[in-house]
Amino acid sequence: MSWLRPYVVVFATATIDGRIASRTGFSKLSCSEDKRRQFWLRSKVDAVLVGVNTIIVDNPTLRPKEFPHTRPRYYRVVLDGRLRVPLNARILDVSQYPTIVITSSRSDRSKIAELRKRGVEVIELDTEPPLPLDKVLPKLLDYGIRILMVEGGGETLWHFFRYGVVDELRVTYTSTVFGGREATSLVGGEGFSDTSESPKLKPVLLGLCTCGNEIHVIYRAMDVRGTPIEKPDLDTLRNFTLLIDLREGLWKPVT
Ligand SMILES: NC(=O)c1ccc[n+]([C@@H]2O[C@H](COP(=O)([O-])OP(=O)(O)OC[C@H]3O[C@@H](n4cnc5c(N)ncnc54)[C@H](OP(=O)(O)O)[C@@H]3O)[C@@H](O)[C@H]2O)c1
Repeated sequence: MSWLRPYVVVFATATIDGRIASRTGFSKLSCSEDKRRQFWLRSKVDAVLVGVNTIIVDNPTLRPKEFPHTRPRYYRVVLDGRLRVPLNARILDVSQYPTIVITSSRSDRSKIAELRKRGVEVIELDTEPPLPLDKVLPKLLDYGIRILMVEGGGETLWHFFRYGVVDELRVTYTSTVFGGREATSLVGGEGFSDTSESPKLKPVLLGLCTCGNEIHVIYRAMDVRGTPIEKPDLDTLRNFTLLIDLREGLWKPVT
């Protein structure tokens, strides 16, 4: 397809049964090395995006940490079709890093004005939620966002997979199981009906975390829509020796 968009890397930490949060919303799944992998990736991207439920439940700052940021810019982006972001959310503090909230132009005008007064960038799309990603992602290019990291949650990842705009998926599988009908899956939404509909991903790197209890897998998507304007080399082994212990004989890189 001819439309242009950023390169999209999804990063998530899931239980063995593919849950990113338990039925109570508990999602502190990462070990310290996994956090470092996440921070390392944040240092290599132009923006980190989450859905508004993640802001409501976790109240993250999504700042880069530990590793010096290597790109010209760093935005935090929230997909928020109905403008539910709480006004006391930490992400709305733009003193260090800018924040972009993407919403529908039908959202509360006074709340949009309040966010803008605080220095938050609000992108309004003239459509009802859910916001179509083939409109959202080209808008991010206007801010110079060429490499986008998507951290979740499950509903947001559904939209990214449904639009076929995930170029790369990086998942850490922890050593625990949550189960639960009400738990949040790595990918939520309506779901695909069968493998003829669902996206195909190829594992290109498999590692045992230095903690010894987690595996980290990097997949590349085999069928993507839209054209990423930059294709970064994010996963050379040199970059990963720092973070992943590929123990010979136990695990080895697929490529
Ligand atoms: N373990 C991990 O790696 C990880 C990472 C991130 C989050 N989490 C966990 O995941 C849970 C939250 O996940 P979730 O699936 O409930 O929600 P989510 O993906 O964080 O947010 C979903 C909401 O974002 C808005 N949104 C997403 N895509 C949109 C689109 N295309 N257009 C318009 N609005 C859009 C919608 O709000 P409206 O419904 O108002 O339209 C949607 O309901 C939390 O418990 C969090 O802790 C875990």
